[in-house]
Amino acid sequence: MLQGRRVLIGVGGGIAAYKVCQVISTLAKLGVEVRAILTDNAQQFITPLTVATLCRHSAYTDELFWQPSQPRPLHIELGEWAEVMLIAPLTANLMAKLVHGLADNLLTSTILASTCPVLLAPAMNTDMWHQPSVQRNWQLLQTDLRYHAVNPGSGILACDRVGMGRMAEPSEILVYLHSLLYTQGKRDLIGKHILISAGGTREHLDPVRFIGNPSTGKMGVALAQAALHRGAKVTLVHAPMETRLLNSLSGVRLLPVISAVEMRQAMLNCFPEADWTIMAAAVADVRPTEYSAEKLPKRLLPNQLPLSAAPDIVAELSHIKRSHQRLIGFAAQTGDIFTPALEKLQRKRLDAIVANAIDQIDSGFGSDHNQAIFIDHEGRKVAIGQCSKLQMAHHLYDFIHTMSGKPVMAMRDEDEWHG
Ligand code: C5P
Repeated sequence: MLQGRRVLIGVGGGIAAYKVCQVISTLAKLGVEVRAILTDNAQQFITPLTVATLCRHSAYTDELFWQPSQPRPLHIELGEWAEVMLIAPLTANLMAKLVHGLADNLLTSTILASTCPVLLAPAMNTDMWHQPSVQRNWQLLQTDLRYHAVNPGSGILACDRVGMGRMAEPSEILVYLHSLLYTQGKRDLIGKHILISAGGTREHLDPVRFIGNPSTGKMGVALAQAALHRGAKVTLVHAPMETRLLNSLSGVRLLPVISAVEMRQAMLNCFPEADWTIMAAAVADVRPTEYSAEKLPKRLLPNQLPLSAAPDIVAELSHIKRSHQRLIGFAAQTGDIFTPALEKLQRKRLDAIVANAIDQIDSGFGSDHNQAIFIDHEGRKVAIGQCSKLQMAHHLYDFIHTMSGKPVMAMRDEDEWHG
């Protein structure tokens, strides 16, 4: 999916330029064709040689812009070449130029001479960031749907101040670029509120012991990122998961829970406001009947654990679902993934289910990849071959878009295959 895709990176004059080298390096290793433009100020921080070496292609500077030997104007050539652009770090100065449509160097001219989606990653000193003029410009830029934003984070800045202004981490930028290459910048989920559950619930018998499962929440996180990148308002109800994953979700409302009972309550609270709800969480089916608030000494641990049923959250949601809402479940399966998933779709009265193969190499629990069959209530099925979880999330949103609101019918025979 990324092999041979064309990403143009505009590097601004800020210290965060060094982090952009990581973005370029990762993209190039993934087979993406990367070209980079450095402003004059960017070259105070990193050199064209650094960037050219990482891109495996010479870097572009204003010096080249003004050379008469180009067959076509360079900004036109580069603007037409790019499928997606990234401007990082976006300095306060560059931001102001974009707001006013200035074209005073190769980078700003190329942005105006292109129509592709542009991802903006601002970085600056915290006082600069909080200036009303900068905030106004930042809000204004985002009214232009061509511009996508990865907001700066908070932390220690290179000027030794602590506050907002750190450029988003390369991992967050890379995921967004990946989305833009998939969607070409479309924001078909604007106006939708998407509620997602993620991770494996923990059913404690005392404060340290629990019944759990290997779910890491990566699929739910990918669903949240993809929805956000397509313009949705996103709420993620999540069981315990790595902080690293949660940190990649700026802009998503996060509601942490531990057990199935807590997840049920959070989902019930959020569900009335949701347009689409996706239950990607691996919710326990059973929980210990008794809970001890004190850690049980080893000698008091029971030989057999009395269990009670955990609430079936998705089944409960389907009973209160209103006609405009869509409810999608996941079924983690081994062997024949299709038949049990279909049975769950019908029993839990879902709009669609993702039959998720968890016994394949590099797929399912904990992996960055996945493979699945989407089945909807009308019997349509689409098989998705192994791909990244982010891509799987985008495929799922495409699938939900094509679903009708009609009631459950028998399965159709024909299959559609995507890879
Ligand atoms: O565990 P199972 O394969 O039955 O899960 C199918 C779907 O039901 C998933 O979307 C899961 O999140 C949901 N589920 C639930 N509550 C449970 C068990 C599963 O909402 N107690």
